[in-house]
Amino acid sequence: MPAKILDGVKVAQEIRTEVAQDVRELQQTTGVTPGLGVVLVGDNPASATYVRTKSKACQEVGAVSETFTLPKTATEQEVLALVARLNHDPRFHGILVQLPLPSQISERKVTVVIDPTKDVDGLHPLNMGLLLEGSPRFIPCTPAGIQQLLLRHGYDLAGKHVVVCGRSNIVGKPVSVLLLQKQRGANATVTVCHTATRDLASITRQADILIVAAGRPNAITGDMVKRGVVVVDVGVNRVSDPAAPRGYRIVGDVDFAGVEPLAEAISPVPGGVGPMTVAMLLANTLKAAKRAAGVATANSKD
Ligand code: GUN
Repeated sequence: MPAKILDGVKVAQEIRTEVAQDVRELQQTTGVTPGLGVVLVGDNPASATYVRTKSKACQEVGAVSETFTLPKTATEQEVLALVARLNHDPRFHGILVQLPLPSQISERKVTVVIDPTKDVDGLHPLNMGLLLEGSPRFIPCTPAGIQQLLLRHGYDLAGKHVVVCGRSNIVGKPVSVLLLQKQRGANATVTVCHTATRDLASITRQADILIVAAGRPNAITGDMVKRGVVVVDVGVNRVSDPAAPRGYRIVGDVDFAGVEPLAEAISPVPGGVGPMTVAMLLANTLKAAKRAAGVATANSKD
């Protein structure tokens, strides 16, 4: 039987409809319109595309979004000054600095100066700490999207063995911490694999749920999974393809053709995790606006 497809486009649309409804309610009850300030430094084409997608998605749910673009030669001081300005601008409840940044700018320094109450990416150390502690304010968008993609396809993670491939600050670390919490939608046994892991396949074969954020195509092949696994592919890789209109196509980190016949379910690339990341950014921006307007949100312990 072919694997069930974990359809990120469909689930993201559901979430966007819910967010749009909440945005209308917030406007009617408080007059507040959620606002997102986006910082784009340089001319990385993939980053420019992501930022356009996020901005458009904001507008579609009735939020406002403004993008501030700096040249690739911008200094760290200029980026820090822009973030400081957005921290104090009441039109923006959320701030997102698109990563990666050019090499002369420290991503950590920039992340740390974002007002944690506007950090809709959830990457500020304070928000990472709250997540680790089990009382998150903003869950990073891709981990939150992975969790929703699984839950809304009916996969309960409690007691399951989740294997995460990758330990980045943006996906691997926060998703492993998120899914091990003793909370609804989590409570999994989590193993994290990385570039120094010995005999990776012996561990990935134990996965009930395999989350792959390794950053390279074909990191996971059919011989590395057990039958019935549920696979979430976080990878976004450009591979050259002379037959494709742009000369390249986008693939994930998983050898889809080799793994799909063995899997119970698998997320496609594109159309899996990517749209979920955008949907969760909208949800976090709404949450930040509600907080600023004094409206209680679920889990808001801050
Ligand atoms: N670059 C790739 N993914 C992300 C993300 O989720 N947030 C930010 N800020 N930059 C990214």
